[in-house]
Amino acid sequence: MINFTYHNPVKIVFGKGTIPELKDLVPSGHKVMLLYGGGSIKQNGVYDQIRNALSEFDVTEFSGIEPNPRYETCMRAAAQAKEQKAQFLLAAGGGSVMDAAKFIAVAALYDEAVDPWEIMEHRKPVAAALPIGMVVTLPGTGSEMNSFSVISRESSGEKLAFGSPHCYPKFSILDPETTFSIPMRQVENGIVDTFAHVMEQYMCAAGSAPLTERQAEALLLTVIEQAPKLLANPKDYELRANLMWCATIALNGSLGCGVETEDWSSHMLGHELTARYGLDHARSLAVMMPAVHRHQLKRKLPRLVQCAARVWNISAINDLVRADKAVDRMEEFFRQTGMSTRLYEYKIDANEAADITVERLSKRGVMLGENGDLGPKEIREIFMLAK
Ligand code: NZQ
Ligand code: ZN
Repeated sequence: MINFTYHNPVKIVFGKGTIPELKDLVPSGHKVMLLYGGGSIKQNGVYDQIRNALSEFDVTEFSGIEPNPRYETCMRAAAQAKEQKAQFLLAAGGGSVMDAAKFIAVAALYDEAVDPWEIMEHRKPVAAALPIGMVVTLPGTGSEMNSFSVISRESSGEKLAFGSPHCYPKFSILDPETTFSIPMRQVENGIVDTFAHVMEQYMCAAGSAPLTERQAEALLLTVIEQAPKLLANPKDYELRANLMWCATIALNGSLGCGVETEDWSSHMLGHELTARYGLDHARSLAVMMPAVHRHQLKRKLPRLVQCAARVWNISAINDLVRADKAVDRMEEFFRQTGMSTRLYEYKIDANEAADITVERLSKRGVMLGENGDLGPKEIREIFMLAK
Protein backbone atom coordinates (compact mmCIF):
# COMPACT_ATOMS: atom_id res chain seq x y z
CA MET A 1 0.00 0.00 0.00
CA ILE A 2 1.43 3.40 -0.92
CA ASN A 3 1.25 6.46 1.31
CA PHE A 4 -1.80 8.65 0.85
CA THR A 5 -3.69 11.58 2.31
CA TYR A 6 -7.44 11.35 2.08
CA HIS A 7 -9.56 14.34 2.96
CA ASN A 8 -13.04 14.64 1.54
CA PRO A 9 -14.87 17.53 3.19
CA VAL A 10 -18.24 17.18 1.39
CA LYS A 11 -21.25 16.87 3.68
CA ILE A 12 -23.73 14.41 2.14
CA VAL A 13 -27.42 14.68 2.91
CA PHE A 14 -29.06 11.59 1.45
CA GLY A 15 -32.67 10.52 1.12
CA LYS A 16 -36.28 11.25 0.37
CA GLY A 17 -37.55 14.72 1.21
CA THR A 18 -34.16 16.23 2.07
CA ILE A 19 -34.21 19.33 -0.17
CA PRO A 20 -35.92 21.50 2.51
CA GLU A 21 -32.72 21.08 4.59
CA LEU A 22 -31.16 23.64 2.26
CA LYS A 23 -32.38 26.39 4.54
CA ASP A 24 -29.94 25.22 7.23
CA LEU A 25 -27.15 24.11 4.89
CA VAL A 26 -26.68 27.39 3.01
CA PRO A 27 -24.84 29.88 5.24
CA SER A 28 -27.42 32.32 6.55
CA GLY A 29 -27.41 35.79 5.05
CA HIS A 30 -25.45 34.71 1.97
CA LYS A 31 -26.53 35.94 -1.42
CA VAL A 32 -27.23 32.79 -3.41
CA MET A 33 -26.96 32.22 -7.15
CA LEU A 34 -28.95 29.19 -8.29
CA LEU A 35 -27.44 27.44 -11.33
CA TYR A 36 -29.36 24.97 -13.45
CA GLY A 37 -29.66 23.50 -16.91
CA GLY A 38 -32.33 23.38 -19.56
CA GLY A 39 -35.31 23.33 -17.23
CA SER A 40 -35.79 19.73 -16.05
CA ILE A 41 -35.82 21.01 -12.46
CA LYS A 42 -38.86 23.13 -13.26
CA GLN A 43 -40.76 20.13 -14.62
CA ASN A 44 -39.99 17.69 -11.81
CA GLY A 45 -40.66 20.01 -8.89
CA VAL A 46 -37.03 20.35 -7.73
CA TYR A 47 -36.99 24.06 -8.57
CA ASP A 48 -40.07 24.76 -6.41
CA GLN A 49 -38.64 22.74 -3.53
CA ILE A 50 -35.40 24.76 -3.70
CA ARG A 51 -37.14 28.14 -3.93
CA ASN A 52 -39.39 27.22 -0.99
CA ALA A 53 -36.44 26.07 1.11
CA LEU A 54 -34.58 29.30 0.34
CA SER A 55 -37.55 31.64 0.75
CA GLU A 56 -35.64 33.61 3.41
CA PHE A 57 -32.59 34.06 1.18
CA ASP A 58 -31.75 36.58 -1.52
CA VAL A 59 -31.56 34.28 -4.58
CA THR A 60 -30.64 35.08 -8.18
CA GLU A 61 -30.59 32.57 -11.02
CA PHE A 62 -28.59 31.50 -14.04
CA SER A 63 -30.14 28.84 -16.26
CA GLY A 64 -29.35 27.22 -19.59
CA ILE A 65 -26.19 25.33 -18.65
CA GLU A 66 -25.98 22.75 -21.40
CA PRO A 67 -24.84 19.09 -21.29
CA ASN A 68 -21.03 19.05 -21.57
CA PRO A 69 -21.02 22.58 -20.16
CA ARG A 70 -19.35 25.24 -22.22
CA TYR A 71 -16.68 27.64 -21.14
CA GLU A 72 -18.54 30.42 -22.94
CA THR A 73 -21.73 29.81 -20.91
CA CYS A 74 -19.78 29.53 -17.66
CA MET A 75 -18.02 32.83 -18.32
CA ARG A 76 -21.40 34.55 -18.73
CA ALA A 77 -22.53 33.02 -15.45
CA ALA A 78 -19.31 34.13 -13.74
CA ALA A 79 -19.80 37.69 -14.99
CA GLN A 80 -23.33 37.65 -13.58
CA ALA A 81 -22.09 36.26 -10.25
CA LYS A 82 -19.51 39.06 -10.03
CA GLU A 83 -21.97 41.75 -10.98
CA GLN A 84 -24.60 40.55 -8.53
CA LYS A 85 -21.99 39.89 -5.83
CA ALA A 86 -23.10 36.29 -5.32
CA GLN A 87 -21.62 34.74 -2.18
CA PHE A 88 -22.80 31.17 -2.60
CA LEU A 89 -23.45 29.06 -5.71
CA LEU A 90 -26.14 26.39 -5.62
CA ALA A 91 -26.02 23.90 -8.49
CA ALA A 92 -29.16 21.85 -9.22
CA GLY A 93 -28.73 19.21 -11.92
CA GLY A 94 -26.47 16.48 -13.24
CA GLY A 95 -22.72 16.39 -13.82
CA SER A 96 -22.84 19.23 -16.31
CA VAL A 97 -24.45 21.75 -13.97
CA MET A 98 -22.30 20.61 -11.03
CA ASP A 99 -19.09 20.83 -13.09
CA ALA A 100 -20.08 24.21 -14.47
CA ALA A 101 -20.67 25.47 -10.92
CA LYS A 102 -17.09 24.56 -9.98
CA PHE A 103 -15.63 26.48 -12.90
CA ILE A 104 -17.97 29.44 -12.38
CA ALA A 105 -16.96 29.51 -8.70
CA VAL A 106 -13.33 29.90 -9.77
CA ALA A 107 -13.92 32.26 -12.70
CA ALA A 108 -16.06 34.60 -10.57
CA LEU A 109 -13.02 35.34 -8.38
CA TYR A 110 -10.48 35.49 -11.22
CA ASP A 111 -8.42 38.53 -12.08
CA GLU A 112 -10.30 40.35 -14.90
CA ALA A 113 -7.15 40.53 -17.01
CA VAL A 114 -6.50 36.79 -17.02
CA ASP A 115 -8.43 34.02 -18.79
CA PRO A 116 -9.36 31.29 -16.27
CA TRP A 117 -9.13 28.70 -19.07
CA GLU A 118 -5.46 28.57 -18.04
CA ILE A 119 -6.41 26.27 -15.14
CA MET A 120 -7.27 23.66 -17.75
CA GLU A 121 -4.92 24.49 -20.58
CA HIS A 122 -1.81 25.16 -18.49
CA ARG A 123 -2.85 23.33 -15.31
CA LYS A 124 -2.53 26.57 -13.37
CA PRO A 125 -3.48 25.86 -9.72
CA VAL A 126 -6.75 27.36 -8.51
CA ALA A 127 -6.21 30.00 -5.84
CA ALA A 128 -9.80 30.50 -4.66
CA ALA A 129 -13.42 29.67 -5.43
CA LEU A 130 -16.83 30.77 -4.22
CA PRO A 131 -18.46 28.21 -1.90
CA ILE A 132 -20.76 25.77 -3.70
CA GLY A 133 -23.66 23.53 -2.66
CA MET A 134 -25.36 20.92 -4.83
CA VAL A 135 -28.73 19.29 -5.35
CA VAL A 136 -28.05 16.23 -7.49
CA THR A 137 -30.76 15.27 -9.99
CA LEU A 138 -28.80 12.84 -12.19
CA PRO A 139 -26.38 10.41 -10.53
CA GLY A 140 -23.37 9.07 -12.42
CA THR A 141 -20.49 11.52 -12.65
CA GLY A 142 -19.75 11.66 -8.90
CA SER A 143 -19.16 15.40 -9.24
CA GLU A 144 -21.22 15.96 -6.07
CA MET A 145 -18.46 14.56 -3.85
CA ASN A 146 -15.27 15.36 -5.71
CA SER A 147 -13.22 18.37 -6.71
CA PHE A 148 -13.13 17.74 -10.47
CA SER A 149 -14.81 19.50 -13.34
CA VAL A 150 -14.81 18.98 -17.11
CA ILE A 151 -15.49 21.97 -19.36
CA SER A 152 -15.84 22.20 -23.15
CA ARG A 153 -14.67 25.22 -25.12
CA GLU A 154 -16.75 25.82 -28.21
CA SER A 155 -14.25 28.07 -29.99
CA SER A 156 -11.42 25.49 -29.87
CA GLY A 157 -13.46 22.29 -29.75
CA GLU A 158 -11.60 21.18 -26.60
CA LYS A 159 -12.98 19.31 -23.58
CA LEU A 160 -10.61 19.56 -20.63
CA ALA A 161 -10.67 18.74 -16.92
CA PHE A 162 -9.34 20.45 -13.83
CA GLY A 163 -9.50 19.75 -10.13
CA SER A 164 -8.84 21.72 -6.98
CA PRO A 165 -9.48 21.30 -3.26
CA HIS A 166 -11.18 24.72 -3.45
CA CYS A 167 -13.89 23.15 -5.63
CA TYR A 168 -15.25 20.53 -3.25
CA PRO A 169 -18.89 21.35 -2.63
CA LYS A 170 -19.68 22.34 0.96
CA PHE A 171 -22.61 19.93 0.82
CA SER A 172 -24.57 17.82 -1.63
CA ILE A 173 -28.20 16.80 -1.30
CA LEU A 174 -29.05 13.47 -2.88
CA ASP A 175 -32.77 12.82 -2.96
CA PRO A 176 -33.37 9.69 -5.07
CA GLU A 177 -36.91 10.89 -5.80
CA THR A 178 -35.47 13.66 -7.97
CA THR A 179 -34.22 10.94 -10.34
CA PHE A 180 -37.65 9.52 -11.25
CA SER A 181 -37.98 12.02 -14.09
CA ILE A 182 -34.65 11.18 -15.76
CA PRO A 183 -35.09 9.90 -19.33
CA MET A 184 -33.97 6.25 -19.59
CA ARG A 185 -31.08 7.22 -21.84
CA GLN A 186 -29.62 9.30 -19.01
CA VAL A 187 -30.31 6.55 -16.46
CA GLU A 188 -28.25 4.21 -18.64
CA ASN A 189 -25.52 6.84 -18.90
CA GLY A 190 -25.32 7.19 -15.12
CA ILE A 191 -24.94 3.44 -14.65
CA VAL A 192 -22.15 3.10 -17.20
CA ASP A 193 -20.28 6.19 -15.99
CA THR A 194 -20.36 4.84 -12.42
CA PHE A 195 -19.06 1.46 -13.56
CA ALA A 196 -16.31 3.09 -15.62
CA HIS A 197 -15.14 5.28 -12.71
CA VAL A 198 -14.56 2.20 -10.60
CA MET A 199 -12.70 0.43 -13.40
CA GLU A 200 -10.34 3.35 -14.06
CA GLN A 201 -9.17 3.16 -10.43
CA TYR A 202 -9.40 -0.59 -9.87
CA MET A 203 -7.73 -1.85 -13.01
CA CYS A 204 -4.26 -1.00 -11.74
CA ALA A 205 -4.55 -2.15 -8.19
CA ALA A 206 -3.98 -5.90 -7.92
CA GLY A 207 -2.45 -6.81 -4.60
CA SER A 208 -1.37 -3.35 -3.50
CA ALA A 209 -4.38 -2.34 -1.42
CA PRO A 210 -6.63 -5.33 -0.67
CA LEU A 211 -9.33 -3.39 1.16
CA THR A 212 -9.62 -0.73 -1.53
CA GLU A 213 -9.72 -3.43 -4.21
CA ARG A 214 -12.53 -5.25 -2.43
CA GLN A 215 -14.42 -1.97 -2.04
CA ALA A 216 -14.12 -1.47 -5.80
CA GLU A 217 -15.31 -5.04 -6.41
CA ALA A 218 -18.26 -4.52 -4.04
CA LEU A 219 -19.22 -1.47 -6.06
CA LEU A 220 -18.95 -3.27 -9.39
CA LEU A 221 -20.97 -6.22 -8.05
CA THR A 222 -23.66 -3.91 -6.70
CA VAL A 223 -23.96 -2.01 -9.99
CA ILE A 224 -24.05 -5.26 -12.01
CA GLU A 225 -26.77 -6.61 -9.71
CA GLN A 226 -28.92 -3.49 -9.36
CA ALA A 227 -28.70 -1.94 -12.83
CA PRO A 228 -30.75 -4.50 -14.79
CA LYS A 229 -33.36 -4.44 -12.01
CA LEU A 230 -33.63 -0.66 -12.25
CA LEU A 231 -33.90 -0.72 -16.03
CA ALA A 232 -36.77 -3.20 -15.65
CA ASN A 233 -38.39 -1.34 -12.68
CA PRO A 234 -37.63 2.37 -13.09
CA LYS A 235 -40.20 3.33 -10.45
CA ASP A 236 -38.44 1.41 -7.65
CA TYR A 237 -37.16 3.87 -5.04
CA GLU A 238 -34.73 1.42 -3.40
CA LEU A 239 -33.01 0.66 -6.70
CA ARG A 240 -32.75 4.37 -7.52
CA ALA A 241 -31.30 5.05 -4.07
CA ASN A 242 -28.74 2.24 -4.26
CA LEU A 243 -27.43 3.30 -7.65
CA MET A 244 -27.33 6.95 -6.63
CA TRP A 245 -25.08 6.12 -3.68
CA CYS A 246 -22.91 3.85 -5.86
CA ALA A 247 -22.31 6.75 -8.24
CA THR A 248 -21.17 9.02 -5.42
CA ILE A 249 -18.80 6.50 -3.83
CA ALA A 250 -17.35 5.52 -7.21
CA LEU A 251 -15.62 8.86 -7.63
CA ASN A 252 -15.19 10.43 -4.21
CA GLY A 253 -11.52 9.50 -4.01
CA SER A 254 -11.92 6.61 -1.58
CA LEU A 255 -11.24 3.98 -4.28
CA GLY A 256 -7.85 5.56 -4.91
CA CYS A 257 -6.61 5.14 -1.32
CA GLY A 258 -3.36 3.20 -1.19
CA VAL A 259 -3.45 2.01 -4.78
CA GLU A 260 -0.26 2.50 -6.74
CA THR A 261 -1.60 3.92 -9.98
CA GLU A 262 -4.80 4.75 -11.78
CA ASP A 263 -5.42 4.66 -15.50
CA TRP A 264 -7.87 7.21 -16.89
CA SER A 265 -7.14 6.39 -20.55
CA SER A 266 -10.75 5.53 -21.40
CA HIS A 267 -11.93 8.86 -20.02
CA MET A 268 -9.21 10.81 -21.83
CA LEU A 269 -10.06 9.16 -25.14
CA GLY A 270 -13.79 9.40 -24.47
CA HIS A 271 -13.57 13.15 -23.85
CA GLU A 272 -12.03 13.53 -27.31
CA LEU A 273 -14.90 11.57 -28.87
CA THR A 274 -17.42 13.79 -27.09
CA ALA A 275 -15.60 16.95 -28.10
CA ARG A 276 -15.45 15.95 -31.77
CA TYR A 277 -18.60 13.88 -32.33
CA GLY A 278 -20.90 14.90 -29.47
CA LEU A 279 -21.31 11.43 -27.95
CA ASP A 280 -22.75 11.46 -24.42
CA HIS A 281 -19.92 11.07 -21.92
CA ALA A 282 -20.95 7.56 -20.79
CA ARG A 283 -21.49 6.41 -24.38
CA SER A 284 -17.96 7.46 -25.28
CA LEU A 285 -16.70 5.32 -22.39
CA ALA A 286 -18.71 2.28 -23.48
CA VAL A 287 -16.83 2.44 -26.78
CA MET A 288 -13.32 3.20 -25.51
CA MET A 289 -13.15 1.13 -22.32
CA PRO A 290 -13.37 -2.37 -23.84
CA ALA A 291 -10.84 -1.34 -26.51
CA VAL A 292 -8.38 0.06 -23.95
CA HIS A 293 -8.58 -3.11 -21.87
CA ARG A 294 -8.14 -5.40 -24.89
CA HIS A 295 -5.09 -3.38 -25.89
CA GLN A 296 -3.67 -3.50 -22.36
CA LEU A 297 -4.69 -7.11 -21.67
CA LYS A 298 -1.18 -8.37 -20.91
CA ARG A 299 -0.16 -5.43 -18.77
CA LYS A 300 -3.39 -5.55 -16.79
CA LEU A 301 -3.47 -9.35 -16.66
CA PRO A 302 -3.30 -9.82 -12.85
CA ARG A 303 -6.08 -7.29 -12.31
CA LEU A 304 -8.27 -8.61 -15.09
CA VAL A 305 -7.84 -12.16 -13.80
CA GLN A 306 -8.82 -11.00 -10.30
CA CYS A 307 -11.81 -9.13 -11.74
CA ALA A 308 -12.79 -12.21 -13.77
CA ALA A 309 -12.81 -14.40 -10.66
CA ARG A 310 -14.25 -12.04 -8.07
CA VAL A 311 -16.65 -9.94 -10.13
CA TRP A 312 -17.66 -12.03 -13.13
CA ASN A 313 -17.24 -15.49 -11.58
CA ILE A 314 -15.31 -16.74 -14.61
CA SER A 315 -13.25 -19.88 -14.27
CA ALA A 316 -11.41 -20.51 -17.53
CA ILE A 317 -8.44 -22.73 -18.25
CA ASN A 318 -5.78 -20.07 -18.35
CA ASP A 319 -5.26 -16.48 -17.28
CA LEU A 320 -5.28 -14.97 -20.75
CA VAL A 321 -8.63 -16.53 -21.57
CA ARG A 322 -10.03 -15.42 -18.19
CA ALA A 323 -8.86 -11.85 -18.71
CA ASP A 324 -10.23 -11.81 -22.22
CA LYS A 325 -13.60 -13.07 -21.00
CA ALA A 326 -13.66 -10.40 -18.28
CA VAL A 327 -13.41 -7.72 -20.98
CA ASP A 328 -16.10 -9.48 -23.05
CA ARG A 329 -18.40 -9.52 -20.02
CA MET A 330 -17.82 -5.81 -19.42
CA GLU A 331 -18.72 -5.02 -23.03
CA GLU A 332 -21.79 -7.26 -22.75
CA PHE A 333 -22.83 -5.40 -19.58
CA PHE A 334 -22.55 -2.07 -21.40
CA ARG A 335 -24.65 -3.41 -24.27
CA GLN A 336 -27.27 -4.79 -21.90
CA THR A 337 -27.38 -1.33 -20.32
CA GLY A 338 -28.37 0.14 -23.67
CA MET A 339 -25.00 1.26 -25.02
CA SER A 340 -23.42 0.82 -28.42
CA THR A 341 -19.81 -0.22 -27.95
CA ARG A 342 -18.28 0.26 -31.40
CA LEU A 343 -17.43 3.36 -33.40
CA TYR A 344 -19.16 2.11 -36.56
CA GLU A 345 -22.45 2.06 -34.68
CA TYR A 346 -22.11 5.85 -34.38
CA LYS A 347 -20.93 6.08 -38.01
CA ILE A 348 -17.54 7.30 -36.77
CA ASP A 349 -14.53 6.50 -38.90
CA ALA A 350 -11.91 4.98 -36.58
CA ASN A 351 -8.97 6.34 -38.60
CA GLU A 352 -10.31 9.87 -38.56
CA ALA A 353 -11.11 9.71 -34.84
CA ALA A 354 -7.62 8.35 -34.13
CA ASP A 355 -5.94 11.10 -36.19
CA ILE A 356 -7.86 13.86 -34.43
CA THR A 357 -7.24 12.40 -30.98
CA VAL A 358 -3.53 11.84 -31.59
CA GLU A 359 -3.13 15.38 -32.86
CA ARG A 360 -4.92 16.91 -29.89
CA LEU A 361 -3.21 14.83 -27.21
CA SER A 362 0.22 15.30 -28.82
CA LYS A 363 -0.31 19.05 -28.93
CA ARG A 364 -0.97 19.03 -25.20
CA GLY A 365 1.93 16.64 -24.57
CA VAL A 366 -0.41 14.06 -23.03
CA MET A 367 0.62 10.40 -22.78
CA LEU A 368 -1.87 7.80 -21.54
CA GLY A 369 -1.86 4.61 -19.50
CA GLU A 370 -0.99 3.70 -15.95
CA ASN A 371 2.71 4.30 -16.69
CA GLY A 372 2.14 7.28 -18.99
CA ASP A 373 3.74 5.50 -21.90
CA LEU A 374 0.88 5.14 -24.39
CA GLY A 375 1.48 7.54 -27.27
CA PRO A 376 0.28 8.00 -30.87
CA LYS A 377 1.04 4.42 -32.00
CA GLU A 378 -0.86 2.82 -29.13
CA ILE A 379 -3.76 5.29 -29.37
CA ARG A 380 -4.20 4.39 -33.04
CA GLU A 381 -4.18 0.70 -32.13
CA ILE A 382 -6.83 1.28 -29.46
CA PHE A 383 -9.07 3.08 -31.96
CA MET A 384 -8.71 0.14 -34.36
CA LEU A 385 -9.90 -2.18 -31.57
CA ALA A 386 -12.92 0.09 -31.04
CA LYS A 387 -13.97 0.29 -34.67
O1 NZQ B 1 -30.32 20.49 -18.38
P1 NZQ B 1 -31.47 19.82 -17.73
O2 NZQ B 1 -32.77 20.36 -18.13
O3 NZQ B 1 -31.31 19.72 -16.24
O4 NZQ B 1 -31.51 18.30 -18.31
C1 NZQ B 1 -30.48 17.37 -18.10
C2 NZQ B 1 -29.63 17.13 -19.35
O5 NZQ B 1 -30.35 17.40 -20.52
C3 NZQ B 1 -31.10 16.02 -17.89
N1 NZQ B 1 -31.46 15.78 -16.49
C4 NZQ B 1 -30.67 15.85 -15.38
N2 NZQ B 1 -31.38 15.50 -14.29
C5 NZQ B 1 -32.64 15.23 -14.70
C6 NZQ B 1 -32.70 15.41 -16.10
N3 NZQ B 1 -33.83 15.25 -16.82
C7 NZQ B 1 -34.93 14.87 -16.14
N4 NZQ B 1 -34.94 14.65 -14.80
C8 NZQ B 1 -33.83 14.82 -14.05
N5 NZQ B 1 -33.85 14.56 -12.74
O6 NZQ B 1 -30.10 15.09 -18.28
C9 NZQ B 1 -29.34 15.65 -19.34
C10 NZQ B 1 -27.88 15.34 -19.17
O7 NZQ B 1 -27.36 15.96 -18.01
P2 NZQ B 1 -25.79 16.08 -17.75
O8 NZQ B 1 -25.61 16.81 -16.48
O9 NZQ B 1 -25.12 16.60 -18.96
O10 NZQ B 1 -25.35 14.53 -17.61
P3 NZQ B 1 -24.24 13.87 -16.72
O11 NZQ B 1 -24.63 13.86 -15.30
O12 NZQ B 1 -23.95 12.58 -17.37
O13 NZQ B 1 -22.97 14.84 -16.84
C11 NZQ B 1 -22.07 14.75 -17.90
C12 NZQ B 1 -20.91 15.71 -17.71
O14 NZQ B 1 -20.13 15.38 -16.53
C13 NZQ B 1 -18.75 15.26 -16.88
C14 NZQ B 1 -18.82 14.76 -18.30
O15 NZQ B 1 -17.60 14.88 -18.99
C15 NZQ B 1 -19.92 15.62 -18.87
O16 NZQ B 1 -19.46 16.88 -19.24
N6 NZQ B 1 -18.03 14.41 -15.91
C16 NZQ B 1 -17.70 14.93 -14.71
C17 NZQ B 1 -16.94 14.24 -13.80
C18 NZQ B 1 -16.56 14.83 -12.49
N7 NZQ B 1 -16.87 16.07 -12.23
O17 NZQ B 1 -15.94 14.15 -11.67
C19 NZQ B 1 -16.44 12.89 -14.06
C20 NZQ B 1 -17.09 12.22 -15.20
O18 NZQ B 1 -16.21 11.23 -15.66
C21 NZQ B 1 -17.46 13.14 -16.32
O19 NZQ B 1 -16.33 13.42 -17.13
ZN1 ZN C 1 -16.97 9.57 -16.26
